[in-house]
Amino acid sequence: MQDQLKSILDNAMQQLEKAGSLSDTEEIRVRYLGKKGQVTEILKTMGSLAPEERKHLGQEANSVRNKIEQLLDQKFAEMKAAARAEKFKSEGIDVTEPGQEFNLGVKHPITITIDEISGIFMSMGYSIAEGPQAETVFHAFDALNSPPNHPSRDETDTFYFSDDIVLRPHTSSVQIRTLENENPPIKVISPGRCFRCDTPDATHSPMFHQVEGLLVDEGITMADLKGTLDAMAKQLFGSETKTKFRPHHFPFTEPSAEMDVSCFKCGGKGCRICKGSGWIEILGCGMVHPNVLKVGGIDTEKYTGFAFGMGVERIALLKYGIDDIRLFYENDMRFINQFK
Ligand code: PHE
Repeated sequence: MQDQLKSILDNAMQQLEKAGSLSDTEEIRVRYLGKKGQVTEILKTMGSLAPEERKHLGQEANSVRNKIEQLLDQKFAEMKAAARAEKFKSEGIDVTEPGQEFNLGVKHPITITIDEISGIFMSMGYSIAEGPQAETVFHAFDALNSPPNHPSRDETDTFYFSDDIVLRPHTSSVQIRTLENENPPIKVISPGRCFRCDTPDATHSPMFHQVEGLLVDEGITMADLKGTLDAMAKQLFGSETKTKFRPHHFPFTEPSAEMDVSCFKCGGKGCRICKGSGWIEILGCGMVHPNVLKVGGIDTEKYTGFAFGMGVERIALLKYGIDDIRLFYENDMRFINQFK
């Protein structure tokens, strides 16, 4: 048995010497010190030996086991350190390598236009209001004083989810939400998406954007409306820009108007952009109808207000001289990258 122990130790030492990985080392541990390992098996037989032999061989076997354990510990530590070094090496970063260039993206022309319009009104002290795109018929029509038979309510004009819910056809619904939640003085604009049942062509899209404006305070008149929108037009299209207001009709404003700006391309002489007239229509506006103010519980004896709504696509088409609205939605990077 003594010889056997000696040869076990020799073999274990040799094998450990050669082991090249953590799993090799583990296999060796099991082979010698595992439950059925060679050293373990010998230790199990100790009980059946004569006391004399047991003392002597017991010591021997224990010392072989301790020796192997010690060598295993060493080997495990070595193998772990090697594995860690290997991992560092493979995950290491070569800081001298040239960097990877990445594309910073650009703002979409519709976003640029909304930002520009919002910036102008924010500098006049307006804040931004938001409302849902899927809107109640109440907020989109009823509360805006739109008569029950108004053609814009037709399913051929407006997208219906149900009898009560539509995709908002204009941002004027945010006027109602603001009036419901705030007290005068109110001074907000609301940019956002709108939807109408239009077949796409060069000037129509079933999804488009508007910027709505609403101001309610004591003593507000049509002169405030004209002054505000004239100032906006001069900032948006250039300080030479003139504006004019034509009577119009909207259910939610009285009186109502459309505002034209002098053609920024030809300065008013007449060209292709203004179709020879020298003027370009850019928005609808008016004094908020008392019926609309009442929905928000606002005292119409004390307060008056104005509202306006403009089509963002239309302004962007004009500003950038683009001749097809569909270009905005195709996400052709050759188009979008021109607005850097
Ligand atoms: N909501 C109107 C439209 O979509 C625009 C508008 C807004 C007119 C506010 C007057 C006041 O055409």
